[in-house]
Amino acid sequence: MEEITALAKRRGFIFQSSEIYGGIGGFFDYGPLGAILKRNVKDAWWREMVERRDDVVAFDSSIVMHPNVWVASGHVEAFHDKLVDCRNCKHRFRADHLSSLEKCPDCGMSGTLTEPRNFNLMLRTQIGPMEDSASLAYLRPETAQGIFVNFKNIYQSARKKPPFGVAQIGKAFRNEITPGNFTFRLREFEQAELEYFVPDDGNDMATYHEWVTARKQWYSDYGVKPERLRFYELTPEERPFYAKAGIDVEYLFPWGWGELESIAHRGTHDLDAHMKLSGKDLTFFDEATKAKYTPILIESSAGMDRTTLTMLIDAYDSEAIVDEGGKESKRVVLRFHPKIAPVQVGVFPLARNKPDLLERARSIERGLHSRFRAQYDEGNVGQLYRRQDEIGTPYCIMIDYQTLDDATVTVRDRDSMRQDRVAQDALAAYLEERT
Ligand code: GAP
Repeated sequence: MEEITALAKRRGFIFQSSEIYGGIGGFFDYGPLGAILKRNVKDAWWREMVERRDDVVAFDSSIVMHPNVWVASGHVEAFHDKLVDCRNCKHRFRADHLSSLEKCPDCGMSGTLTEPRNFNLMLRTQIGPMEDSASLAYLRPETAQGIFVNFKNIYQSARKKPPFGVAQIGKAFRNEITPGNFTFRLREFEQAELEYFVPDDGNDMATYHEWVTARKQWYSDYGVKPERLRFYELTPEERPFYAKAGIDVEYLFPWGWGELESIAHRGTHDLDAHMKLSGKDLTFFDEATKAKYTPILIESSAGMDRTTLTMLIDAYDSEAIVDEGGKESKRVVLRFHPKIAPVQVGVFPLARNKPDLLERARSIERGLHSRFRAQYDEGNVGQLYRRQDEIGTPYCIMIDYQTLDDATVTVRDRDSMRQDRVAQDALAAYLEERT
């Protein structure tokens, strides 16, 4: 993990937020490559969950909503961790992280720990000029509620009828007591949520299983190692009382299994709760059958920062290689799936001091730019390959003297390090097939 965090910083994937001021716990920034990596992860989710389906519509709700949204959702009442304070050293602990309340684990004093107290995890803010209780608002701890409160607006305007889904990617905030494990547990993060509404016609569990399969396929399609991924089925005791089924998608991180996504059959709980508090009708009226009902909800809720971190960790590899002279060295390589890789094609001239080579390399890179994430670079050849391996570029194109004679280039494959000679005019098709 240390090697990965160092690489993430060195190569511009992830930086600590506000680093020059000493950082701020639970917040991170994405650098030039990390921003593209995360965007590619989100685009991959959006492509499969929205664009390739005709039963899912897009949504984008505000971060700050009416405070009653969080009363109805249960977050004001129940979204908390239990905390214990030490009266002596003033340190604060999550109750579930302590083995007993006898002794403070930091200062060692006995009898100084308080009884566990509830600590709400929602981040608060103030809206309007007055700082009173009427102006209290929350930064949303999940994106889903924006979809529930708009259920009627959405199905009426999109002319949709269950079964159909609503998808949204957006920021969420949680005042986590113990943020950590790099970008795994954050206070500001992004979720990609799909809320799929189905009629109560006996097919709800089948739809739930279809989504579980679709999500398995997604992780497999984008190259996550199957042996490091598991779909953990929650027991009735582990699920909320209203949920009929639930699965946590977990990845084997260097510190153990951690949740990437939760998939749940939530019954009619969410729409019912908003109807009760708002007094507004959020049922679905079927014009054809004249039936009015509250649809059942199947939810898939994935963390985009955790998925991005997973892609980074899963791709990381370090291997010993031996060059032609028999010298051994270490090669660090990120084996990203080509659709996820921030740079898909690196293009370089063999020598820096030959204007013809530079010009040809630049023009090839410009030609590829509209179809691939291509990057021009120049310098020492060994270092160029080393850098592109470290940022996970699947293909590198070398422009050499032969290119000037016969318009062919060398294409190096990141994983096998095999080099192919490819005609310049066949290059785009060659790369298209492989990326
Ligand atoms: N609407 C359902 C929901 O929010 P959740 O299991 O609390 O469910 C869904 O969150 C996903 O959001 C998690 O599986 C995780 O990937 C991500 N997530 C939750 N809290 C997070 C945090 N503090 N930092 C980063 N990601 C988080």
